[in-house]
Amino acid sequence: MSTLRLEGKVAIITGAASGIGEAAARLFASNGATVVVADIQDELGTRVAASIGLGRCSYRRCDVTREEEVEATVDYVVRTHGRLDVMLSNAGVLGPLASVLNVDLGEMDHVMAVNLRGAAAAVKHSARAMVAKGTRGSIICTGSVTACQGGLGPVAYTASKHALVGLVSAAAGELGLHGIRVNCVSPFGVATPLACGYHGRSPEQVEESSCAAANLKGVVLKAHHVAEAALFLASEESAFISGHNLVIDGGTTVVNSCFRMMR
Ligand SMILES: NC(=O)c1ccc[n+]([C@@H]2O[C@H](COP(=O)([O-])OP(=O)(O)OC[C@H]3O[C@@H](n4cnc5c(N)ncnc54)[C@H](O)[C@@H]3O)[C@@H](O)[C@H]2O)c1
Repeated sequence: MSTLRLEGKVAIITGAASGIGEAAARLFASNGATVVVADIQDELGTRVAASIGLGRCSYRRCDVTREEEVEATVDYVVRTHGRLDVMLSNAGVLGPLASVLNVDLGEMDHVMAVNLRGAAAAVKHSARAMVAKGTRGSIICTGSVTACQGGLGPVAYTASKHALVGLVSAAAGELGLHGIRVNCVSPFGVATPLACGYHGRSPEQVEESSCAAANLKGVVLKAHHVAEAALFLASEESAFISGHNLVIDGGTTVVNSCFRMMR
């Protein structure tokens, strides 16, 4: 029996030119999937696909804020590979760090357009393709610990990720009828360009502050840990899991340190 957990499956990963999406593209492909990297960073995305191997991975430009590009990407994949089994809707932006007192609503619209509307387009068009082919597919959205609690990220980003969990619950509720599962992976801080960029911090600095704030000690959260969780949700190992938000935070968002401080 094959140990490849996605053998014969076809997957689209949005935001896969970098960070968590790139790690997932590598892991899915090494587990037998045919992977389409969908992003707006053409040079980087093309390089990532080529380094994975053009037989197993290709790059396709897809701005998730444009529904027609998401639809065209899904159509292209079904036309080229005959089916779509897995959608990892992972493209995301952090947006402005402004306080709620100063938040620019135009900038907030952009965060919502990528993180929420982009994911809604990915869920909609991947689910349509799966329903049309009778595929019992798996749709996964990259959420965040900011979907669980306030105080962990900027206001627009936090709102977009809370709403994303709502999108996943609603879609899981509707698509169960078709055998399609819809879940979230919600990581704590990972040193990717998204996390480093805005403060101009090095990956080492991001990891240091992330480790200091995390409940679980002795492990540095990396993009590949998140990719492993996405692989589990993409594979048959999670065959009866739908509507779940798999939080990858070492317990940080379920622990309140008040008692520890009183002792
Ligand atoms: N890094 C973290 O600490 C962290 C924590 C929790 C959740 N996340 C989430 O993980 C996901 C991946 O982020 P990352 O940390 O790997 O960052 P990243 O910046 O390395 O990757 C994000 C990717 O999304 C792409 N992207 C941005 N806008 C797009 C658009 N309109 N259309 C298509 N692609 C677009 C970017 O080009 C980039 O390749 C995001 O949804 C992010 O919110 C990250």
